[in-house]
Amino acid sequence: LNYLVPKSRKYIVETLMDGLQRLEYRGYDSAGIAFDGGNEIPLNDSPKMPCVVVRQKGKVVDLRNAVAKLEDNNWDLEFETHAGIAHTRWATHGEPSAWNSHPQRSDEDNEFVVVHNGIINNYKDLKAYLITKGFTFESETDTEVVVKLIKYLYDKHKAQGHNLTFQDLVELVISQVEGAFSFLFKSVHFPGELAASRRGSPLLIGVKCESQLATNHIPIVFSKEFRGAVVQSPLLRPETSAEAEFHPLGSNKNIEYFFASDASAVIEHTNQVIFLEDDDVAVVRNGCLTIHRIKRGEISEPSHREIQELFMEIQQIMKGNYKYFMQKEIFEQPESVVNTMRGRVNADKLNVTLGGIKDYVSEIKRCRRLIFIACGTSFHSAVATRQLLEELTELPVMVELASDFLDRNTPVFRDDVCVFISQSGETADTILALRYCKQRGALIVGITNTVGSSISRESHCGIHINAGPEIGVASTKAYTSQFLSLVMLGLVLSEDSLSKKPRRDEIIRSLRDLPGQIKTVLELDDQILELSKQLYTEKSLLIMGRGFNYATCLEGALKVKELTYMHSEGILAGELKHGPLAMVDPTMPIVMVLMDDPVKQKCMNAYQQVAARGGNPIIICNENDEELSQLSNRTIKIPRTVDCLQGILSVIPMQLLSFHIAVLRGYDVDCPRNLAKSVTKN
Ligand code: G6P
Repeated sequence: LNYLVPKSRKYIVETLMDGLQRLEYRGYDSAGIAFDGGNEIPLNDSPKMPCVVVRQKGKVVDLRNAVAKLEDNNWDLEFETHAGIAHTRWATHGEPSAWNSHPQRSDEDNEFVVVHNGIINNYKDLKAYLITKGFTFESETDTEVVVKLIKYLYDKHKAQGHNLTFQDLVELVISQVEGAFSFLFKSVHFPGELAASRRGSPLLIGVKCESQLATNHIPIVFSKEFRGAVVQSPLLRPETSAEAEFHPLGSNKNIEYFFASDASAVIEHTNQVIFLEDDDVAVVRNGCLTIHRIKRGEISEPSHREIQELFMEIQQIMKGNYKYFMQKEIFEQPESVVNTMRGRVNADKLNVTLGGIKDYVSEIKRCRRLIFIACGTSFHSAVATRQLLEELTELPVMVELASDFLDRNTPVFRDDVCVFISQSGETADTILALRYCKQRGALIVGITNTVGSSISRESHCGIHINAGPEIGVASTKAYTSQFLSLVMLGLVLSEDSLSKKPRRDEIIRSLRDLPGQIKTVLELDDQILELSKQLYTEKSLLIMGRGFNYATCLEGALKVKELTYMHSEGILAGELKHGPLAMVDPTMPIVMVLMDDPVKQKCMNAYQQVAARGGNPIIICNENDEELSQLSNRTIKIPRTVDCLQGILSVIPMQLLSFHIAVLRGYDVDCPRNLAKSVTKN
C-alpha cells in the first residue's frame, strides 16, 4: 500500500480484516494478521518500527476481537506506505491453534513474517537443517521453516557483508522449497515492502489506483545467476543480481496493491488484477511493483504480466462461477484428486509414499485384520476399496458402519488395525468407535480431511486426504479423495510384494490419467441435465451394480436421498432376484452401473432381467461399449480406467444427476433439510 494521503492504522487493519471475511466461505479454522506500529525497537543497533502479529483460533470475528484488545492501540497512527498481511487457515500440518496460525514468524521480534497457502513437502529436511543452525520452532506447521529459512539467509549474508534485497532472499528461499505454495513475506528490515511468490497455489495482485494506470502490463525483471559467491551451506545456491529500478505503473503515488489467493478478497477494491505465474517473485517497494524471475533461458518465456480486468460479482467469484458450493466441489475434483496424490504418488518411479503412516507400515502389515469404520459417504469409500485392499494385502478386511459396530459390541483385539474414515473428523459415532477400539489396544489409523480434528488427534497415525474444505452438506470431492487415499493405502501396504507388482504398477500408471478422465466425465454435465429432466418428477430411483461399482450405487442413492428427498436404493445386482426385482416394471426409474470389468457379464444378466420386465434403465458404462450402445439409447459413457479405480469416475454422473434433480425440484442443494455437515451428536 502506498498513499499520497496517509492512511490510518485503523484503515489498514480494517481493510485486511474485510479481505479475510471475504474468504470465509472457503472454510477455515483460524486466522492471523501482521501490521506495523507501536514503539520502535532496537534491532541490529538501529531502531525499527515493530511488526505486530495477532493470531487466533476460530473465526475472523475472534481475530477482530483479539486485535481490538491490543494494549498498543494507537489506531490513528498514519502511514504513507505500509505492508500488512493476513491469513485464514485450513490446517494441513498441525492442529488449529493460535501458534499454528499464520503469519508464522522468524523469531520473537517478528523480524520476518510470512503467510502461506499450500504444502511444503521437504519441510522436515529444512527443519532438521535449521535446528542444527540453532533455530527453535514454536509451531507444528510446515510454514514456520520458510520464515526461519529467510531469516537464516538474511543473517548469514549480512554477516558476510552482502546486503541482499527482499527479492534476492525470496528467490533463495523458493529455490530450496519443494511443494506447493503461495507466500507473502513482510519484514522489519524492509519497512513498507512486501515480497511474494507462488508455485502450484494461486496468487494474484489487485491494483487500485485513483488515476489512470500508465500501462496495462508489468514487465518482468529477469535476474541472472550470480556465480561469484563461495557457496558454504548445502542450502544455498548462487545468489541473484540486484533488481533494476523502474516504475512500471508510472508516477502514480496513491496506489494500493492487494495480494490474495482468491479474487473474492480484492474485488470490492479493484477489478484490475495480475495473475502471477509459478516461480514469479513480486515485490512492492516505495509504491512500485516489480515482478522478477530467474532467467532459465527458455525462449518462449513471456516478458511481462498483463493487468487484466475482472468482470465479476463477489458472489460469483466465491463460488467460482458456480451457483452452489456443491456444484463447485463436484467440478473441483480434477484438482482435489491431484492434491490428494501430491507428493505421494510418483508415477515415473511407480511408487507411493504416505508420510503419515510411514512408521507404522510394518505393524499394519502384521495385523490380524483390517477394520474400516465410518458413517455415510465415508463408509461408502471403504465399501468401494474393500476388494482392492483384500487383494493387495491378503488380509481379512471388515467394513463397518460406526453406529452398528458399537451397537454390536464387536470384538476387537490388540492385533487389529482399525481405520476410521471421516471428512470432518468430528462425527460422533466414528469418534466413539475409535475410542472403543483404542481402549482394546488396536492400532488406530485416521483418514480425515481435517487436520487437528478429534479423529486426527486421537489416531496413532493417519492420512490427510487434502481435498480442501468441503462446504456442501452432501459430500462429493471428499468421497473421491477418500477413495483415492484408501487405494494409496493398499499400494503402500503391498509395496514389497513381488507377486503384486504388475497390478500395483498398472494402478499407479492409471492414477496419472485420473484427473484428465474426471474432466472428461464432467463434460457430460449437459447430457446428465437432460436425463435429470426426465427423472425429477419421479418418486423413486433404483441404482444397480456390483463388484467395484456397488459402492457407486450406494453412494449414488445416498446423494439422491440427501439432495432430492426422493426414495432411492443402491442395489447389489447379485441380490436382484432375491427381492428388488419385484419392484421392476416399465414405470420404475432405474440406473445401472455396467462397467467393462470382470463382473460385466453378471451385470449384463441383471440388465436382461430388468429389460425383460419392461425396465429401460439409464446405463453408466465405458465409452466404446458397442454392445450397450446398441441395447440402450440412454447411456452415460465414461472413460475406462483400471477396474479398481473405475468407481472414482462412475460416481461423478451420480453426483451430477442428484444435483440437477435437486435444483429442478427447487431444493437448497448446499443445505438439504434435516441434515448437517458434521453430525457431532449420536
Ligand atoms: C453427515 C454428512 C455426510 C457425511 C457423514 C459422515 O451425515 O451429511 O455427508 O458423509 O456425516 O461424515 P464424516 O465427516 O465423518 O465423513
